[in-house]
Amino acid sequence: MTEPPHLSAVRASYDAVAADYARRVKEPAELDPVSRAMLAAFADLVRDRGPVADLGCGPGKVTAHLAALGVRAFGVDVSPRMIELARAAYPELRFTVGSMTALDIGDGDLGGILAYYTTHHTPPQWLPTVFAEFHRTLAPGGRLMLAGHVGEDEHLRPTHAYGGHPVSYESYLLPPDRIADLLHRAGLVVTTRMVQEPEGETKRQVGTFLAYKPE
Ligand SMILES: C[S@@+](CC[C@H](N)C(=O)[O-])C[C@H]1O[C@@H](n2cnc3c(N)ncnc32)[C@H](O)[C@@H]1O
Repeated sequence: MTEPPHLSAVRASYDAVAADYARRVKEPAELDPVSRAMLAAFADLVRDRGPVADLGCGPGKVTAHLAALGVRAFGVDVSPRMIELARAAYPELRFTVGSMTALDIGDGDLGGILAYYTTHHTPPQWLPTVFAEFHRTLAPGGRLMLAGHVGEDEHLRPTHAYGGHPVSYESYLLPPDRIADLLHRAGLVVTTRMVQEPEGETKRQVGTFLAYKPE
């Protein structure tokens, strides 16, 4: 498949910010209690289900957090620099370069998928492709957790990020109902949709979705 046009900007931008991103992003143990509880709930749901892919894993901190919770987690990211950093920080875990628009993972191979603060970089017209990949690679009964910023159809074009590095990626903040509907259309059963209102340092709404692939 031809690579979707947005990926080159995402790759180049995250390669550029990777080291500063890794330094600045919170350790999962420092997240707010609700976010930590959702990750713990996801770990409980997938622990006995087989391999779990952390898609858009960045520097691998959340992958390692899941692994520490007893999950057979591995990471995939489109940014080679992020994957280098993840491998260096967590040499015991597996990290590979790849895109969630076309995963190098077999049909039904996964017990779970985590997509943590990553799908907002996918233009809405490509989300059906990404969610079809989630459905294809999950085993029947396999679980998805998707979390990230949501909004009222906001299209953001930041010019600099994470310490002033020029970036060219874009972000699309969709309403939670639209995300849930797209997951449903991909054949996934959405069991949980939660919205956290902006609080403290978090200036945007955060949506968290749990879903599974039916047997
Ligand atoms: C904001 S960071 C989040 C990283 C990590 N999940 C975390 O929570 O720290 C977004 C990451 O998603 C990755 N990404 C964006 N689109 C992707 C895609 N289509 N396939 C794989 N990775 C992608 C970026 O390269 C970047 O590392």
